[in-house]
Amino acid sequence: MAYELDQFISDCRSILSHDPGPGGREQVRTKLEHLLKNADFVRQHCTEAPRGLHVLYEDPELGFQVLAHINDKARVSPPHDHGASWAIYGQATHYTDMIEWEREDDGSDPKHAKLRPAKKYRLNPGQAGIYQDGKIHSIDYPDKSRFVRVTGTNLDKIQRIRIDLKTGEVHQMTPQQAT
Ligand SMILES: [Fe+2]
Repeated sequence: MAYELDQFISDCRSILSHDPGPGGREQVRTKLEHLLKNADFVRQHCTEAPRGLHVLYEDPELGFQVLAHINDKARVSPPHDHGASWAIYGQATHYTDMIEWEREDDGSDPKHAKLRPAKKYRLNPGQAGIYQDGKIHSIDYPDKSRFVRVTGTNLDKIQRIRIDLKTGEVHQMTPQQAT
């Protein structure tokens, strides 16, 4: 029996209602890797889906979202956080190169940040990575890279930052600045 989207959602509900912290999120990450092994799911929701950002599910009580990012063109994102939320990225097709950043400054200046790369790795199909609340990361993917994200809440509704690597300027992110 393949692991289906409905079962994944039901598992996320159950896991996150019992443990919304890092332990529960790690269980969700493992379940997402399981879901991405379902070739029919990947074909229907990722390979053959229309380009764009698709909300596959939003939980009415817990607020988490399951999103399919159907990218056409390669993109390098600036370093950014997910505000007070967390995000789990699960690669469906191609790959995403991830950099996790650490702040070298003390965070006291809201307009400026000094970053250094802490970890670099590639997410390949079937692999999922977790980015806890407040963590800064950047992504770099080729044409037609597709991934499924689970976020703790609708990121369009919370304050988030992105950082200009050259100048260190901190900018608020606007809704729909996906990723
Ligand atoms: Fe992100």
